[in-house]
Amino acid sequence: MATSTLNGRRIIVGVSGSIAAYKAVLLVRLLVKAGAEVRVIMTPSATEFVSTLTFSTLSKQEVLTSVISEEGWNNHVELGLWADAYVFAPATANTLAKLANGICDTVLAAVYLSARCPVMFAPAMDVDMWLHPSTQANIQRLEGYGNDIIPVGEGELASGLSGAGRLAEPETIVEAITTKLAAIDAEDGKILAGERVLLTAGPTHEPLDPVRFIGNHSSGKMGVALAAALLQKGAHVELVLGPASAKPAEHSNLTVTHVRTAWEMHDACVALWPSMDAGIMTAAVADYRPETAADKKIKKDGDALSLTLVKNPDIAATLGKVKKSNQRLIGFALETNDGKMYALGKMKRKNFDAIVLNLHTPEATAFGGDTNQVTILKADGEELAFERMSKVKVAQEVVGVLIGLR
Ligand code: C5P
Repeated sequence: MATSTLNGRRIIVGVSGSIAAYKAVLLVRLLVKAGAEVRVIMTPSATEFVSTLTFSTLSKQEVLTSVISEEGWNNHVELGLWADAYVFAPATANTLAKLANGICDTVLAAVYLSARCPVMFAPAMDVDMWLHPSTQANIQRLEGYGNDIIPVGEGELASGLSGAGRLAEPETIVEAITTKLAAIDAEDGKILAGERVLLTAGPTHEPLDPVRFIGNHSSGKMGVALAAALLQKGAHVELVLGPASAKPAEHSNLTVTHVRTAWEMHDACVALWPSMDAGIMTAAVADYRPETAADKKIKKDGDALSLTLVKNPDIAATLGKVKKSNQRLIGFALETNDGKMYALGKMKRKNFDAIVLNLHTPEATAFGGDTNQVTILKADGEELAFERMSKVKVAQEVVGVLIGLR
């Protein structure tokens, strides 16, 4: 199993008081080496075996030993939600017993009760403690909560006895974490399998003559990020892309239809929509087009040139009107003022199930950049406000909302 799965993963290592705590030092080193972000939590008795300094130096993070530290209260809930995996190594008989029964007298346990990520235990104790029915009952209980037990090794024990109860080797623990996270990734990558999603992106160009057009600065980056986020979850993506600078990477589940004008985008979308499960409309469609496009280059004969512009079709509204009960539609709204009011109005008018609002201010343009600050408003009234973040992250949040709408 490639340890690249661990790159960028957030892993908590919970260390409890056992002579095997020294092996947790090697474990943290291996995890950091594989690119993981590691936070170490120790029980007070674990600090008798290995110093917090060893772990804080290796993880480059403060080590938690108590819910209250010099800096104040440690937010165990935040840490529990932060993690992609929580691994107890070594897990003593005492820690296993407490956690199996919800006893929350250490920060280790408080984070355990708050964690939503997979939890794995690598037990370490003497053979008789390991084989004791109470320990085995606790192990079964923890497995019943959906936690994983990394098998103990057999051999020489610190007590001088020999048998089962040795902490698994650090490499084995890394392997177990990698396998677990890879399995979750594989499952996650199938959540939208079989779903077909229509995605519009980029600007439209409305021709004035063979060499000029009316258009806008949309780069298409948000749409390309959304395509990637949808593909990552296993969806088939039909991307209808205006003349954007951003280009999606090729993918077997991605079909791209290149269009230029609003009408071309409209026709492509209308043809696709009946066979789609969902639509996400990110395109910055030109609201108006020149009534006529000259077939030859317009000459600069006069001091002024008057253009008559006529309304373009509203693609999102057209799809919203014929949306079936099993189809989901998400729109975007770029506003300069009174954003929420306008966005809510658009969601209703265009029959969206959710709308992604981004406010366009001189300091925070959504066009062209790599970041965006959005609020997602859902038709059921839920409102999700986000800090400024990369368009890749915004795309993941939008896809998360789409998954929740099914
Ligand atoms: O009305 P407004 O342009 O602000 O609406 C934004 C939403 O409607 C976006 O999701 C956009 O992609 C979509 N839209 C469209 N066709 C238009 C105008 C907007 O699909 N002509």
